[in-house]
Amino acid sequence: MQFTTTREQASKLECDCLIVGLVQDQPMDENLKALDEATGGLLERLQTDKELPLKTGKTLMLHAPSGLATARLLLVGMGKAEKLDGIAYVKAAQSAGKVLRQSGAKNAHCLLAEVPVSDRNPTWKVHQAALALAHSDYIYSATKKVADDAAPATDTVSFPDGDNVEQALARSEAIAAGIQRCRDLGDAPPNICTPIYLAETAEKIAAEHADLSVEILEENQMKEIGMHSLLAVGQGSANPPRLIRLSWKGGKDDDAPLALVGKGVTFDTGGISIKPRDLMEQMKFDMCGAASVIGALEAVARLKLPINVEGVVAAVENMPDGKAYRPGDVITTLSGKTIEVHNTDAEGRMILADAIYWTGRELKPAAMVDIATLTGACVVALGHHASGIMTQNDDLAGELLAAGLEAADRGWRLPLWDDYQEQIETPFADMKNLGGMPAGSITAACLLARFAEGQRWAHIDIAGSAWRWGKPESATGRPVGMLVQWLEGHAGD
Ligand code: BES
Ligand code: MN
Ligand code: ZN
Repeated sequence: MQFTTTREQASKLECDCLIVGLVQDQPMDENLKALDEATGGLLERLQTDKELPLKTGKTLMLHAPSGLATARLLLVGMGKAEKLDGIAYVKAAQSAGKVLRQSGAKNAHCLLAEVPVSDRNPTWKVHQAALALAHSDYIYSATKKVADDAAPATDTVSFPDGDNVEQALARSEAIAAGIQRCRDLGDAPPNICTPIYLAETAEKIAAEHADLSVEILEENQMKEIGMHSLLAVGQGSANPPRLIRLSWKGGKDDDAPLALVGKGVTFDTGGISIKPRDLMEQMKFDMCGAASVIGALEAVARLKLPINVEGVVAAVENMPDGKAYRPGDVITTLSGKTIEVHNTDAEGRMILADAIYWTGRELKPAAMVDIATLTGACVVALGHHASGIMTQNDDLAGELLAAGLEAADRGWRLPLWDDYQEQIETPFADMKNLGGMPAGSITAACLLARFAEGQRWAHIDIAGSAWRWGKPESATGRPVGMLVQWLEGHAGD
C-alpha cells in the first residue's frame, strides 16, 4: 500500500472510496458540513434516521453517494469524544480498513485524521491511520491462493496535504514495511520458516540496503565459542540452528549501538517435556521475537536512522529426539554459568542466555532489549493488549513504555526485583531453567538478567501481543512499532 497527499477538496475528489470519521455526540465540523451540503443533506438524514455509525469501529458503506465524486463513502464511528484516545482511534481505523479491504475499492482518500483525538497532533493521526489501513489490507497468501473472486487490495491511499504530512507518510511506509515483514515471518509455517529461512531472509534484506550488513554464525562456529545453551535447545532438531546478526550503520563508527535480541524458536514442541497436542500448531509463532527484530531493522534501514543498531536473532527449533537435551542436564552457557534443565519447554531463556551474553560481550551496546514469546504466564497476566516489560533500569522502562504509548503498541511493566531470584536456585548448577508457578514471566526474566549483568537491558515478553488468535489468526507485527519508536527516540542522542 502506498500513501500520497492531495489538495483536492474531498467532495470533488475522484476515488474509489472516501473514508470519513464520525464522533458521537458532537456537532458536524467544517469537513462534515461540506460533505453534507454536497450530498444534499445525506448526513443530516442519516442522523435523523439514527443510521449514522457512531460507536467505535462501526461502519456504514454507501455506494455512489450523489453529489460526491467518489464511488463509495465509508462512514466510520469513532465513539464518544471523551473516550477518543489514540488506542480507540487506531481500533476504529483498523475496522474501517477491514471494510475497505472487503470492498471493490483499489484506492481511497482518508479523512480519519480530521477527527479530534486527545493529545494527538495531525501527523500522528495521519501516521496511525496509514498504519491501520495497511494492517487491515493484509491477507495471508504465502501458501493459500487468495480467492479469484476476492476483493482487490487497496494500492494507494491519499490524505489531505498539510504540514509535514508527506514526511509522516514516508515514515509510515517504512514502518508498515517492517511490520509487514514481521507478520509474514510470523505467519509462515514452520516447515518453511526454519532457522536457515530466517537467516536467508536477513541476508536478502541486508542485500537491499547499503548500510545494512549481516553475519551468520553456524553450528560449528557457535560450538567453537561455547554457545552450549543455545545449541542444547537445537540439538534435537534436523533443522540446524543459526545466530543471525543484522547491523545497521547509520551513526558514527565509534557510536555504541542499540541492540535488539530476538527469540527465534521456529517451532516449539516443548522438546522432551513435550507440549499437549491441542493448539501445538500455534507454536510456529514462537519466532515472533526474531521476526520483530528483523522487521524493526528493515524499518530502520528504510528510515535511514542516524544511529547504529544491531539486531541479533537466536534461531532454533525445539524438538524431542534421541539427541535432544533433557530434564536433568546441566548446560555450561557461553558466559561460563551453568543451567540445570528442569523443563525442556523453557527453551526460550536457554537460547537467550547465550544470545544476550554474546551481544553484550561482542557488540558492547549502549542499551539492549530482548523480545520473546517467552511465557504463557505473560498471556495470563496481561492478555493480548500489552507486551510485558521487565527491567531493573527505571529509565529504560520509562523509555519503552513511552515508546509503546506513542506507537499505539503498548507495554506494561512487571517488577524484576531480586526477591524472585531465589526461585531459580538449585544445588546442581548456578541456576535452573524453571521458577515454579508463581510469577512465571518474572522468573524467566530473572534468568535472563543473570546474562545481562553490566548491561543497560530490558526484556519484552510478547507471548500475548505477538499474535491474534481469531478472525483471522495472524501475527500482529508487534512490537515493531514500539521498537522503532524507541530507536527513533535515540536518533538525536
Ligand atoms: N513459547 C512458549 C511460551 C508461550 C506459551 C508463548 C503460550 C505463547 C503462548 C515457551 O517456550 C514455553 O513453553 N514456556 C513455558 C515455560 C514453562 C515450562 C516454565 C510455559 O509458558 O508454559
Ligand atoms: Mn517452550
Ligand atoms: Zn517457546
